[in-house]
Amino acid sequence: MSTTLIKNARIASSNDNHEFVQLDATDILVVNGKIQAIGNDLVCETAVRVDAHEQWCLPGFIDCHTHLVYGGNRAQEFSLRLKGVSYETISKQGGGIKSTVRATRALNEATLLSQTLRRAKRLAEEGVTTVEIKSGYGLDKDTELRMLDVALKVGELTNLNIQRTFLGAHALPPDSEVSAEEYIDFVCQTMIPYVAEHQLADAVDVFCEKVGFNLAQTERVFMAAKQSNLKVKGHVEQLSDSKGAALAAKYNALSVDHIEYLAEEDIPLLADSGTVAVLLPGAFYYLKETQLPPIDALRKYNVPIAISTDMNPGTSPIASLLTCANMACVLFGLTTAEALTGITAHAALALGLKNKGQIKTGYDADMCLWDIESPESLVYEINGYRPTAKWIGGKRVL
Ligand code: NIG
Ligand code: FE
Repeated sequence: MSTTLIKNARIASSNDNHEFVQLDATDILVVNGKIQAIGNDLVCETAVRVDAHEQWCLPGFIDCHTHLVYGGNRAQEFSLRLKGVSYETISKQGGGIKSTVRATRALNEATLLSQTLRRAKRLAEEGVTTVEIKSGYGLDKDTELRMLDVALKVGELTNLNIQRTFLGAHALPPDSEVSAEEYIDFVCQTMIPYVAEHQLADAVDVFCEKVGFNLAQTERVFMAAKQSNLKVKGHVEQLSDSKGAALAAKYNALSVDHIEYLAEEDIPLLADSGTVAVLLPGAFYYLKETQLPPIDALRKYNVPIAISTDMNPGTSPIASLLTCANMACVLFGLTTAEALTGITAHAALALGLKNKGQIKTGYDADMCLWDIESPESLVYEINGYRPTAKWIGGKRVL
């Protein structure tokens, strides 16, 4: 692979203190996909030389929670919700996740892939270099595996780094008599061991909620994941304080996601387990939620905060990570620096990726150049900018 030397950049990244700062250097040397050196006046005769002309160089953005693979759309449900029908009511009436499951099951792999690629490209256009993609709209073996395969192919066809998460415990399968306990048996005894054995996912997720699975069922899924050596994460405390975050911490979860109803007393547990708090302001916005996540308490206990799109057809049809970073500032009160760390270094932690999310020696060379006044412009202006150059694993892709 070629060697690249980027000259004359204004480089900004989170540092090891989790602060998003401008680095005291202008040049980056990339060798074999990794950042080999960061400094001033770097020289390398054999490298492809790129003059950044003082543009900003930032780490590639990481969207650490998406449901990018799905069929159909939920525009009708959106209209119903605008008339005041709640997400829970729609879900109880067989709509919501279940309607997307039916639509997803009906699509063959090629169609599912082409629809997913359209959304992946939207994310990528805005400087995203890594995307986590969940299953969870199949809820039967064939469709769950098809979703995970589509996610893999998105990576092959776009250059994006893809992390896959098995979310079999997203909802009870529609049009089936199976009880929640029986379905969790299937997830734990059949699906998780299969997914682990064939290396089809990097982590396991559960929707722990009144309209999802209860705490005991969630724990069974976490135990099965642990037995299969898979990391866990959870959709928790989105609509109520169900104590999913505390349970996730007990299983050293990579992340707890949504967390509007997270109780302050559970936050030290997250700090102790090194679990990342993932904010999903798109879902908060679409559901017109009013309960704010406990940002000050997360700060107090130094829990890393990440931000993601939660891109999905029901609660967050929004393929723009920078818009979600803006929402995290406007709706949740994050600073622009926290938001930038939230879509880079902390998002990498939420996926257990140790070599991504920062511009740092030894890290993967995933980065973009931006023609902007300052990095905060990216969070300040909605749909304002596109990167002018992009590298993923050291390969120039824009
Ligand atoms: O992250 N909360 C559960 N899962 C998704 C919603 C999925 C859907 O409504 O289709 C979420 O918000
Ligand atoms: Fe989600």
